[in-house]
Amino acid sequence: MPPVGTAAAVPAASTGAVATTVAVEQVGLVFPSRSGEPTVALADVSCHFAPGAVTAIIGPSGCGKSTLLQIIRGFLAPTHGRLRFVAGPGDAPHKAPHSAPHSTPHMATVWQAFNLFPWRTILDNVAFGLEVAGVGRAEREARARAALAKVDLAGFERKYPRQLSGGMRQRVGLARALVMEPELLLLDEPFGALDAQTRLVLQEQLAALVETSGTTAILVTHSIEEAVLLADTILVMTARPGRIAAEIAVDLPRPRSMATTRDPRFAALFDHIYGLLRQEVIRAMATEGGGA
Ligand SMILES: Nc1ncnc2c1ncn2[C@@H]1O[C@H](COP(=O)(O)OP(=O)(O)O)[C@@H](O)[C@H]1O
Ligand SMILES: [Mg+2]
Repeated sequence: MPPVGTAAAVPAASTGAVATTVAVEQVGLVFPSRSGEPTVALADVSCHFAPGAVTAIIGPSGCGKSTLLQIIRGFLAPTHGRLRFVAGPGDAPHKAPHSAPHSTPHMATVWQAFNLFPWRTILDNVAFGLEVAGVGRAEREARARAALAKVDLAGFERKYPRQLSGGMRQRVGLARALVMEPELLLLDEPFGALDAQTRLVLQEQLAALVETSGTTAILVTHSIEEAVLLADTILVMTARPGRIAAEIAVDLPRPRSMATTRDPRFAALFDHIYGLLRQEVIRAMATEGGGA
């Protein structure tokens, strides 16, 4: 049985998402190794994820982005440092168990792999988390339908994953996360496996979704365009061992769409981030070449 919360811990459909602040304080993580050197994946990472904001994390391959997300998700324990969760402003008093500082927020994750159950319909895939949480059939199906409509998949409820394209399946993955109305949405290169055109459309749709949801979101991506299009803040990480090299505020107006990419401020942000990343990618390539 997957580790999903109880029915009482699932916010009701009408209340909407509750924003959460995540504070990462001097977090480090070392993967031990039986043969040879341990891998220092993260060294002294401190950062802050603002409530209701989208923060993108960008950095060279292998710099520890997924590791950081797994620590926030609670799947990996940091070797040193700590995490703090604080419920955001506007949190309703009836959500007391989630309002207290240090309580773990409701999280949902979208990974690169689709991870859908092939034997379940699209509706039942999206409703799965609610089913595990003990939400009754009528309510969970209504909520799953609403989540599918948000990702433009109304009408596909009775199909099976194999009948859908890669882009559609990844939208199902997104609907499956949104249906849980998470306080914290974690996205680890969610569009990494898709072709360039599908990716563009999904980025635009995700931009619209995050603008309306109010959820705190953390997006790991290797695409500068994706980071600038979707995020309020971009954290640029160094080559491994990963640290935060820069924190960049994205002051582009919302709503954002592909037209935003033609804004001169978009180009300026792109160039700035590319300049920072380029150095780190070259450093990462040199380290890999040295066998470290
Ligand atoms: N379970 C593990 N055991 C040992 N090393 C790992 C493990 N997971 C990741 N690593 C190493 O930690 C570093 C960071 O990995 P990861 O967080 O996946 O990077 P990113 O997501 O930025 O590409 C890499 O060098 C990777 O090889
Ligand atoms: Mg990764």
